[in-house]
Amino acid sequence: MIGNFVYCNPTRLHFGKDAPNALREELQRYGKRVMLSYGGGSIKRNGIYQTVLAELRAAGKEVFEDGGVMPNPTVEKLAEGCKIARENEVDLILAVGGGSTIDYAKAVSVSAYCSEDPWDKYFVRFEEPTCKIIPIGCVLTMVGTGSEMNGGSVITNPAAKLKIGHVFGAEVFPKFAILNPEYTFTVPKYQMVAGFFDILSHILEQYLSGEDDNTSDYIAEGLMRSLIHSSRIALQNPTDYEARSNIMWTATWALNTLIAQGKTTDWEVHMLGQAVGAHTDATHGMTLAAVSMPYYRHILPYGLAKFCRYATHVWNVPAEGKTPRQIAEEGLCAMEQWMKELGLVMNITELGVDPSMIEAIADSTLVMDGGYKVLTREEIVAILKASL
Ligand code: NZQ
Ligand code: ZN
Repeated sequence: MIGNFVYCNPTRLHFGKDAPNALREELQRYGKRVMLSYGGGSIKRNGIYQTVLAELRAAGKEVFEDGGVMPNPTVEKLAEGCKIARENEVDLILAVGGGSTIDYAKAVSVSAYCSEDPWDKYFVRFEEPTCKIIPIGCVLTMVGTGSEMNGGSVITNPAAKLKIGHVFGAEVFPKFAILNPEYTFTVPKYQMVAGFFDILSHILEQYLSGEDDNTSDYIAEGLMRSLIHSSRIALQNPTDYEARSNIMWTATWALNTLIAQGKTTDWEVHMLGQAVGAHTDATHGMTLAAVSMPYYRHILPYGLAKFCRYATHVWNVPAEGKTPRQIAEEGLCAMEQWMKELGLVMNITELGVDPSMIEAIADSTLVMDGGYKVLTREEIVAILKASL
């Protein structure tokens, strides 16, 4: 059954090798003063920065540089960006990078003119913006988060040991997004495969919830099959345009709000992964990979029918002569095998966690109630221990 919903995705998305040509026209819709936000320098090495800057100049923009957005952007960097945006009265924030840079740009857009502490308002109390919002646009260089077409913004508070996401409304989504699959060719393999797993995880967080017959779940299965197929090709040949373009498009659909419409969702893997991230600053996709198998094996009995469907529809597990439990477990084994093929990090020890940190990571883990089992504190600790 599809529940009630209102669907609106306001991001205008330009996809393909020619997508960067649309940047100038998009820029012309906004005022003269543009804040250019980017990460640690990859865009300068691969030439994307030079291309974007040329377009900004050709569009007659005054550019205010805001580099150095780190993976897992922090509240401290957010404050720095707000200062640049406010003091220069920017008309647009152009984020060039991956999820970290785009998430950060969204946070700056709602915080630059916020009279309260943005961390408390948005990431602790989950309130909606009441101040002026600066529009953002983006040029995506790393695939995985879906940040290019959603309202998600994940910020880390290192002092509080918390990494929390706020899902903002349509007014905070990027106004436009430029997606050229070729821009992702230079992403290092570790980041590339972490992004692939992030995509699968986003789909699973929405798929592994509820037991009704729901169109969104059929879409989710198609997206997962496409991802698994293309990921194997991209692993062998990272510059295979067909595979990388399919993955880029899959990532967008995995988390642009479509497949969550009219159904319940889980997101507990992300809560566990983000807690690990808050304590280790590890790569997002790897934190998810490291906790996923223990979590799914733990909740499998509570969502057996769906895990069975996942095994047969997505991993092609033959069902004949097997119990539902056997089918479901074989599905998870097939998923685990694929994860190992990609070279994902399969435990949190490798990400810097030691047993003495488990209780503190459990303290940082938010508990969701849309999955097959609402976790108790003891279960969170047990899953984290099993992830070591
Ligand atoms: O900083 P630079 O030098 O650009 O290097 C980056 C960074 O080190 C590099 N990179 C990106 N594009 C590249 C490239 N290197 C070479 N060539 C390119 N074309 O890749 C590294 C990782 O970048 P990052 O932006 O951190 O990765 P990702 O896109 O995975 O973003 C992760 C962040 O997004 C949040 C995560 O929690 C994390 O903070 N998420 C956002 C979501 C959302 N908005 O809905 C949902 C996700 O679940 C996720 O939580
Ligand atoms: Zn994610």
